[in-house]
Amino acid sequence: MQKMRFGVVAGCFLVLSSSAAWGASAGGPGLKTFNDVCSLCHQTQGAGLAGQFPRLADRARDIAQTPDGRKYMISLVLYGMSGSITVDGTPIVGVMPGFATTYSNGALADVLNYAVRLGAGGGARGKVMSFTAAEVNAQRKDPPLSTADVHAMRQQLEASGALPK
Ligand code: HEC
Repeated sequence: MQKMRFGVVAGCFLVLSSSAAWGASAGGPGLKTFNDVCSLCHQTQGAGLAGQFPRLADRARDIAQTPDGRKYMISLVLYGMSGSITVDGTPIVGVMPGFATTYSNGALADVLNYAVRLGAGGGARGKVMSFTAAEVNAQRKDPPLSTADVHAMRQQLEASGALPK
């Protein structure tokens, strides 16, 4: 419970940034990390693989709209996740590794910032809410989570209607 309260506090430091400033095709500093690592599973530009790896394009941005959603995404890249989820109507029983020991806070913020810019966006979808290294650092200082803990965070988000359908 301590952790979820912290998520709300962290949410107060959100930075709203314009995707135009990023350069739509440039990808920003997280592009290389994404292509080196994340795309091995989530595919180029986060297209996903039905039943195996969640689509991130036009989904990561929506998950990042709420403070708890952001806390989940940071926990996920730090500690990974295991357990059954349903994405685009198809169940996935997968394991994602964590990257706490592989990447700095800044590199993890950068790769999340790349992920939330994937897809066409626009319309009813959420604005791009950028992640900062400080946000990642704040969560890194908390006791580490298990992959099942992170899955439980996702289930809470889903129950509260905060995940994209
Ligand atoms: C080895 C494969 C693999 C790699 C590498 C990987 N992921 Fe994942 N990712 C997964 C799987 C599998 C899931 C779903 C886990 C589950 O079923 O519990 C997932 C879930 C996610 C989700 C949550 C989607 C949702 O609907 O809740 C996000 C966001 C995400 N990954 C981002 C990333 C980013 C960013 C990277 C690179 C730093 C990355 N992943 C690297 C396999 C991977």
